[in-house]
Amino acid sequence: MIALPDFPWDRLTPYQDVARSHSGGIVDLSVGTPVDSVPQVVREALAGAADSPGYPQTYGTAELRAAAAGWLRRRHGVTVDPADVLPTIGSKELVAWLPTLLGAGPGDRVVFPELAYPTYDVGARIAGAEPYASDGLLALGPERVPLVWVNSPSNPTGRVLPAEHLRKVVAWARERGAVVASDECYIELGWEDRPVSVLHPDVCGGSYEGLLAVHSLSKRSNLAGYRAAFVAGDPTLIKRLLEIRKHAGMIVPAPVQAAMAAALSDDRHADEQRERYARRRAVLRPALERAGWRIEHSSAGLYLWATNGTGCWDQVRELADRGILVAPGDFYGPAGREHIRVAITATDERIDAAVTRLQ
Ligand SMILES: Cc1ncc(COP(=O)(O)O)c(C=O)c1O
Repeated sequence: MIALPDFPWDRLTPYQDVARSHSGGIVDLSVGTPVDSVPQVVREALAGAADSPGYPQTYGTAELRAAAAGWLRRRHGVTVDPADVLPTIGSKELVAWLPTLLGAGPGDRVVFPELAYPTYDVGARIAGAEPYASDGLLALGPERVPLVWVNSPSNPTGRVLPAEHLRKVVAWARERGAVVASDECYIELGWEDRPVSVLHPDVCGGSYEGLLAVHSLSKRSNLAGYRAAFVAGDPTLIKRLLEIRKHAGMIVPAPVQAAMAAALSDDRHADEQRERYARRRAVLRPALERAGWRIEHSSAGLYLWATNGTGCWDQVRELADRGILVAPGDFYGPAGREHIRVAITATDERIDAAVTRLQ
């Protein structure tokens, strides 16, 4: 049996009950799930592909792969061959299975940030490998590792890794033959800092050897419900992933592939959505600060990483008493024990309610 951690969100239930009992209703800023509508252009593409009786291609349609490559070029200065793009059933699925798909196993350490999205750890365990949370690669010494995850902008901290930092990670990994998987699902949500892809020439020097960039449409296009993401990068690795995924039936449904192609070809809806989040962040951040929280990092992404110096569960409790539910920092690693993660993914009305309650 694989030893999986307890599902952390279950531990929030008592606080959720407290927040729900607030006379004005709960403001749920815990899970970062989109609340705004799926863009019309995407819905139309989904509906237009509703009559899809045949099996879809694991590799994705040529339209989808071209749209993904076009988006990377337009928005992120990254040139990939559409042949080196592979759709995934959301990015969580890939995060959870990548160590297994790359052949990691017992005796291998899969490296990911100290404060991190919990699925990197889970993915290592599913493969039978050892999860290793560390921000300092040097601590690993000469050990060979199969896979290093980076996540910029970060969940939970909203920190952006500069090109120079990413370049060092890539150089370190290349010396050891390690794959660098860069989870870039918040890349379009830079506020004070501009996130850069691991596939950008400033980072990788123009070669994608050993590199995979993981992208999701969940946040950019409000498509968490569609399970829509893709991975791009090293042609050899993409071919290997494709081969296994074909055998294993890890296929994105055809209507979702059509919806993804439409979403990746349209920037207007993404800019509008970005504006919505910018406004929510602009009111929530100072409200938390006025109420005694210090915001750290948080220069990009959908979360405010905050602390008032007490234990994270005390902070969760304090806010639950005001009807606001947030995530405790220790969900993301022991280093988060004095922080909370506050998502900006609630409606304008709910965010304004939170601001009023923080006064
Ligand atoms: C860092 C990170 N990676 C991956 C995911 C998974 O996103 P999805 O499966 O919706 O693409 C999330 C979701 O919140 C995330 O925060």
